[in-house]
Amino acid sequence: MTTKVQNKNLGKARNSKKDEFYTQLSDIERELKHYKNHFKGKVVYCNCDDPRISNFFHYFSYNFEKLGLKKIITTCYKNQNMDLFSQNDSEQAVYLEYDGDRNGNSVPDPKEIGIKPLKGDGDFRSKESIELLEKADVVVTNPPFSLFREYVAQLIDHEKKFVIIGSLSAITYKDIFKFIQENKLWVGYGFTGGNAFFETPHPREFAKGVYNEETGLVKFRNVSWYTNLDIAKRHEDLILYKNYEPKEYSKYDNYDAINVDKLKDIPMDYDGVMGVPITFMDKYNPEQFEIIGLIAGNIKGMAGIKSSSGKDGPYINGKLKYGRILVRNRKPLR
Ligand SMILES: C[S@@+](CC[C@H](N)C(=O)[O-])C[C@H]1O[C@@H](n2cnc3c(N)ncnc32)[C@H](O)[C@@H]1O
Repeated sequence: MTTKVQNKNLGKARNSKKDEFYTQLSDIERELKHYKNHFKGKVVYCNCDDPRISNFFHYFSYNFEKLGLKKIITTCYKNQNMDLFSQNDSEQAVYLEYDGDRNGNSVPDPKEIGIKPLKGDGDFRSKESIELLEKADVVVTNPPFSLFREYVAQLIDHEKKFVIIGSLSAITYKDIFKFIQENKLWVGYGFTGGNAFFETPHPREFAKGVYNEETGLVKFRNVSWYTNLDIAKRHEDLILYKNYEPKEYSKYDNYDAINVDKLKDIPMDYDGVMGVPITFMDKYNPEQFEIIGLIAGNIKGMAGIKSSSGKDGPYINGKLKYGRILVRNRKPLR
């Protein structure tokens, strides 16, 4: 089971029109326990979720009273079947609004969950889905990977709070990186060991070993949670150990910045610009570091500092290196 194979699978998912991957309840619980104080009195919207099968709906309906929610709204894309896995074969979709337990048993009974038809297909970009979005305070879901940019742009456009799942490589999408730089989006707590396991109705699309027949789950590396809700980890400093030694850190040919290959090697006493691995975003605390820009072979004009050669991308001794985020330590040790 190689990373290359898994990344290929992620690529497939991104390109797939179906985007059918289902989030496990345990992963939702593990992430959302860090956001509990954000839900009191709030309307939560899950807009890529069949309410009859979504674990997001399950989580919020069963924890409705504990979280002190006001309402849950979920919309289901192109489907009215009761099958576990959506085949997107109905153009008309459904939605529901759940206002909490009424009969005092603290459980969402079928009678309390009213399913209503939508006029259209439930696309998150449709007028009626946007009207529901307007009623919401926080959007929580795993949206289609192939529409991630558009999905995030809509949430930010409508000034919504959110906790959503996406590929970590989305950090290097120009539009997403801009939001990160503007502090409109950051990385959440993530999946155990960086591995996300999803249920899928398309096991045959996966190489042996990536899809586990016993569990029925497919493994993706490089997937995380994205949010714009304040979480404790965003205020935790990355502990730094090393002192800056010029001979241990190469400088880029074309940028006035040093290259750092591993997060643990970020020097604690360097006050200039440093190129750090993309995984840095998982540890980013805006009180500790300033994000200057993004340099990678295929990305133009995002460095935030001038390239002396006019070339984009991190070059060392004429060779193009891995993509890097350019950062500056706000409080380097002297
Ligand atoms: C990665 S799956 C996740 C499903 C569910 N949110 C979960 O986490 O279990 C993305 C879902 O988005 C739905 N979807 C695809 N395109 C959509 C669109 N344009 N609008 C709304 N939902 C869409 C798919 O049918 C699919 O069920």
